Amino acid sequence: MGKVYRTICNRRTIRRFQNKVIPKDLLTKFINAARLAPSSGNIQPCEFIVVDNPKMLNAIFPCLRWAAYIEPDGNPPKGERPVAYIVALINVQLRKKGGEEDVAAAIENIILTACEEGIGSCWLHSIDRKQIKNLLQIPHHLNVNSIVALGYPNEQPVVDVPQSSSIRYWKDHDGVIHVPKRTLEEIIHRNIYGHNHTDAV
Ligand SMILES: Cc1cc2nc3c(=O)[nH]c(=O)nc-3n(C[C@H](O)[C@H](O)[C@H](O)COP(=O)(O)O)c2cc1C
Repeated sequence: MGKVYRTICNRRTIRRFQNKVIPKDLLTKFINAARLAPSSGNIQPCEFIVVDNPKMLNAIFPCLRWAAYIEPDGNPPKGERPVAYIVALINVQLRKKGGEEDVAAAIENIILTACEEGIGSCWLHSIDRKQIKNLLQIPHHLNVNSIVALGYPNEQPVVDVPQSSSIRYWKDHDGVIHVPKRTLEEIIHRNIYGHNHTDAV
């Protein structure tokens, strides 16, 4: 199995982290992975703030909403909080509207590069943008899109087949998060919508 595909298959969102610092050069490597992502028209409107000092980590934490389906059970407990954040910004001077696809591609590059280094992540879009803009002194021409929370994993979520078609992730008695993923058969169509056999059409 190829390295990238293996990383994709093994990656899960992580919301409990070890109390272990991520080396600075690794955090820089993640931004480099973001820098090299595909970009519409190659405009490259994304910028990133790496946050890893304890004071700022503490300030950002209350701006984040974790695992809405199982709230508050998915909140990282004290001592298991992220040890770094990457704040993903869109420069609206470079690109007035759009940029969301660009930032999403860049974030996925960050997440997969981190995963390959044994670092877990959670992509957060339910965030208090106003507060984050204030805290990090972000100028007006930059919109806060998402935050990626990072740290060495302290949990091991698993993929499930959806039970009774619910896509809601859930936590079992041992604290393991189960993530239902729709089956391949459900989402794949070949040549014509609704056909899924290679000999269709
Ligand atoms: C655009 C986007 C926004 C997300 N926002 C949040 C969020 O605000 N809080 C959170 O805990 N998880 C968030 N997630 C993580 C999803 O809950 C998670 O990807 C999903 O449950 C599937 O789990 P998996 O990543 O392990 O496959 C977000 C994911 C994406 C792609």
